[in-house]
Amino acid sequence: MSIDRLARREIQALKPYQAAIQVSDTIRMNANEAPWTSSGNEFRRPLNRYPEIRPQRLRKALAGFYKCSPDRLLVTRGTSEAIDLLVRIFCRAGVDNIVTTAPTFSMYRHYADVQGAATREIETSGHNGFAVDVDALLDACDSETRLIFICSPNNPTGNLIPRDALVTLLERRGDNSAIVVDEAYIEFAAQSSAVELLEKHDNLIVLRTLSKALAYAGARCGSVMAPPAVIDMLDAVQAPYALATPVVECVEDALQADSLREAEQWVAKIVVERERLIAALKRFPSVRRVWPSAANFFLVEVDEAEALLRQCKANKILLRHFGGALPDCVRISVGTPSQNDLLLKSFAALHGDRDGR
Ligand SMILES: Cc1ncc(COP(=O)(O)O)c(C=O)c1O
Repeated sequence: MSIDRLARREIQALKPYQAAIQVSDTIRMNANEAPWTSSGNEFRRPLNRYPEIRPQRLRKALAGFYKCSPDRLLVTRGTSEAIDLLVRIFCRAGVDNIVTTAPTFSMYRHYADVQGAATREIETSGHNGFAVDVDALLDACDSETRLIFICSPNNPTGNLIPRDALVTLLERRGDNSAIVVDEAYIEFAAQSSAVELLEKHDNLIVLRTLSKALAYAGARCGSVMAPPAVIDMLDAVQAPYALATPVVECVEDALQADSLREAEQWVAKIVVERERLIAALKRFPSVRRVWPSAANFFLVEVDEAEALLRQCKANKILLRHFGGALPDCVRISVGTPSQNDLLLKSFAALHGDRDGR
């Protein structure tokens, strides 16, 4: 059985929305569009026309960038939309569940809640670097577990799932669930993407985004990569014309060689800064622990999280505090070298050293 058979029956039977056809060099009187273009229009494609139902050139460009075949990729409005679509196509309200780790990115649970699916979380611990226990994940699954979400590098802890653990999970769970690996931050890691496992493991789904390493969060562009039959179902559910013309054009630009080179240089700089910050913070007496990270952020445990947040806010720096299972922990996104220096000054000020030495 392939995992598309795990999807809701009505979705398996769903036909894609039939939008007005688009043929170049024709007079379009079939889509109730305006026949004129506003003079303020600065885009390569006219904004009076609907965009392509699915941006095929962009799909091919992203597939080339991520090294998968285009029929295995759907372009989405950020990874967030991909998570929503996956939960909607696979989970029956009040019946099915998703399994994930904790702490992790809260959107998996959020969209499961929206869909009326249950969320089962396997706790991980800072004592062993938040390592994912594959046996515990498998034990949490039952016949109604449609999706297993693995965030790697994990937000907010920064750790990766080792490749052999992922392969074990894929092999042992087989076609009973889809394993979704969210790689929003993989460009900052030394490990390669799980995309290279797609051909071999047809229960694998990989999420990537342009929001982090490419610095295009404002464009809202992500990719879901999965077996072609799953992509077809996602395609049938996603809103027609989901990607707006300005977004398509700016993402085409983001994928040009010079923009990619610039992004690569920034990623390398952020990784250097991440390690500099981690090393510097470990020297402050109020810093109890800093976990290693494979992302553009890291998690730090301090004596008084509230005091730190107040001090940083006074210096116009915002950090993320989660509370709950991470009461004294703060997640810090790596900034530019000068922003990071200001952060270090804020830590130093907490210790009465106003010069940040
Ligand atoms: C792990 C993870 N996945 C996905 C997302 C959402 O990314 P996008 O901007 O592509 O929707 C985030 C955003 O912070 C994230 O941390």
